[in-house]
Amino acid sequence: MRKSSSRVSGHRRIRSSGSRRSRAPGYPISRSLVVTIDGPAGSGKSTVAKLLAKSLGLTYLDTGATYRTLALAALQEDPPVVADAPRLADLARQLPIRLEATPGGQLRVFLGDDEVTKKIRTEQVTEVAAHISQYPEVRAAMVERQRELANTHGVVVEGRDTGSVVFPHATHKFFLDADPAIRARRRQQELFKLYGSQTPLAMIREQIELRDGLDRSREAGPLIKPADAVLIDTTRKTVQGVVQEMLRTIRRHPLP
Ligand code: DC
Repeated sequence: MRKSSSRVSGHRRIRSSGSRRSRAPGYPISRSLVVTIDGPAGSGKSTVAKLLAKSLGLTYLDTGATYRTLALAALQEDPPVVADAPRLADLARQLPIRLEATPGGQLRVFLGDDEVTKKIRTEQVTEVAAHISQYPEVRAAMVERQRELANTHGVVVEGRDTGSVVFPHATHKFFLDADPAIRARRRQQELFKLYGSQTPLAMIREQIELRDGLDRSREAGPLIKPADAVLIDTTRKTVQGVVQEMLRTIRRHPLP
């Protein structure tokens, strides 16, 4: 959306006062920050993004949740719409999605009046989201919706193409990665927490690698590390360690 992108690029022009010396480490965190965090499944993006948003007092936007909500809406159509790109793009443009932050920094997702926070994490929705997010026209419609959802004075946004396509002029960009074995274990723990299900590790790893392949090779909005993003390998790092590293980077590079 033109309005949102120019608003976001406008953030780059905001100046902070005081010398560099007096800014660090107490550099006042501006609400105009736009922080993007991209990376493959299980790299730790969501956990870290929520905590970072909370420490910076910014809105948190999970773009994966928006694709998942579209997938759920597509499955709820009668008959389900999963392979008709123009209809999916229409659904995306009209998707009655609403995101709400809890005081604890978690995200609640609504489709119309229905809370779908948990429903969008099932295996079926995961599979359909991976499929429909390949269509360029669906992505174009979703990028518009994501910019609308981030319509705020500061945001931490996570996904696959948030630094490259959704907010190319973000003030700070990160790319998280981790060993596939660790990523699979994290997903397994996440599924256990959500549904109490014990999905075999080998199966999860296979699914993750399949989705990685789709994410990295698609034509529109592929998973890439933008040249200006800071790469963090989270394999042997704690969540708090990663968040602290990001906060240090943000403080070292205040808004121009
Ligand atoms: O991060 P996640 O597993 O919740 O993402 C769900 C799906 O959406 C996943 O298959 C990748 C896709 N996705 C995407 O294509 N672009 C994004 N910015 C975020 C997610």
